[in-house]
Amino acid sequence: MAPNAVNQAAILVAQGADMVVEERLVPSPGPDEVLIRNRAVGVNPADWKRQREGLLIPFYPIIIGTDCSGVIEAVGPNVTTRKPGDRVCAYADAFYSQKLDHAGFQTYILSNIHDTAVLPDNVSFYQGATLPTAIATGAAALFETLKLPLPSEFSTNPPTSGSKSMSASPGPILLVWGGASSVGMATIQLARLAGCTVYTTASRKHHAYLSEELGAKVVVDYRSPTVVDELVAAAQREGKEILHVVDAISTVETLANSVEVLAKFRREGAEAKPKLATVQPWPEKQLVLPREIEVAMVRGDVLWHSRRDLALWLYRDETLAKWLQSGEFKPSPYRVVKGGAAGVQEAIDIVAKGVSGEKVVIEW
Ligand SMILES: NC(=O)c1ccc[n+]([C@@H]2O[C@H](COP(=O)([O-])OP(=O)(O)OC[C@H]3O[C@@H](n4cnc5c(N)ncnc54)[C@H](OP(=O)(O)O)[C@@H]3O)[C@@H](O)[C@H]2O)c1
Repeated sequence: MAPNAVNQAAILVAQGADMVVEERLVPSPGPDEVLIRNRAVGVNPADWKRQREGLLIPFYPIIIGTDCSGVIEAVGPNVTTRKPGDRVCAYADAFYSQKLDHAGFQTYILSNIHDTAVLPDNVSFYQGATLPTAIATGAAALFETLKLPLPSEFSTNPPTSGSKSMSASPGPILLVWGGASSVGMATIQLARLAGCTVYTTASRKHHAYLSEELGAKVVVDYRSPTVVDELVAAAQREGKEILHVVDAISTVETLANSVEVLAKFRREGAEAKPKLATVQPWPEKQLVLPREIEVAMVRGDVLWHSRRDLALWLYRDETLAKWLQSGEFKPSPYRVVKGGAAGVQEAIDIVAKGVSGEKVVIEW
């Protein structure tokens, strides 16, 4: 590490306050940890909700931000599988661990070694910063909330990638409502890799990307007045049912539509109910919770506690790195905001206004 290294952090001092840039000490990695010099940090809707609404903020002043991408500068005493100079993306786990040195919006962060993925040369730091939260949420939705079978490699440790069976999509239909969202784009690809036939909804301008680049088989315009009927008809033409939905938007309107699709395939007397994974709590005051559908909210952070196996599979076992290298998993499009810690507020404000088919990443 350069002797004059400076750690600039965007600090949130109170609910609703603008970010303040402050210098912090550069931390030293302990056992199982690496020190990363961020080069790009991604922004999520949770960041503006945490800043403006105080969502899941345990104390002030605090540093938020989760999606990091950069170069390993130093490794902890027992670390052998990562080394200084490695290009990685990392999930900054302060959201869960509440350790400020593990928070994303600063120049230097500490990360658990098992929450870092090596970035192959074909993936930029900007692209790396689009990945961690979207992948965690997609993996939690599919393999924890919906309990879909994992890609076949998972059961035969260590996982490998690139087999034809992972890329083919002969399996059950998984509908991703909101495929152009960051969570949606990651979920489409994880589901495809897990063998699902993926249906999704998005505005028309994203249809070619979601089908040709990410592998969704059916893409329907969510603004179409017949969106539900179009999805149902497409499944019926294939002789298949839609029994699993990830609603990556989860507004009253999208939830009602997701329920309507699933209800069309509910069979009287069937033991298993169709399943709906939401990314937001169910809006109880506006929408009656359907009894005929199993509804559960996704928690992306399960990868950092109850489903460590998923994080280890994706990161430690290099599954994500292999998918990125082979092109089986594509980082989402992105827009760059410059300025490092000084650019955090601008980037958060852009995400709060709403983005379309891209992640906002801060150049650091
Ligand atoms: N529960 C969890 O653990 C967890 C974790 C991460 C995120 N989340 C939540 O998941 C949601 C998505 O996050 P994100 O970062 O993926 O969002 P995002 O990328 O900012 O979402 C923007 C996209 O949403 C799409 N969209 C908006 N309204 C839609 C509708 N009615 N139908 C279909 N698509 C629609 C837009 O598509 P078009 O461009 O096609 O219009 C746009 O591309 C947020 O509410 C976030 O807070 C939850």
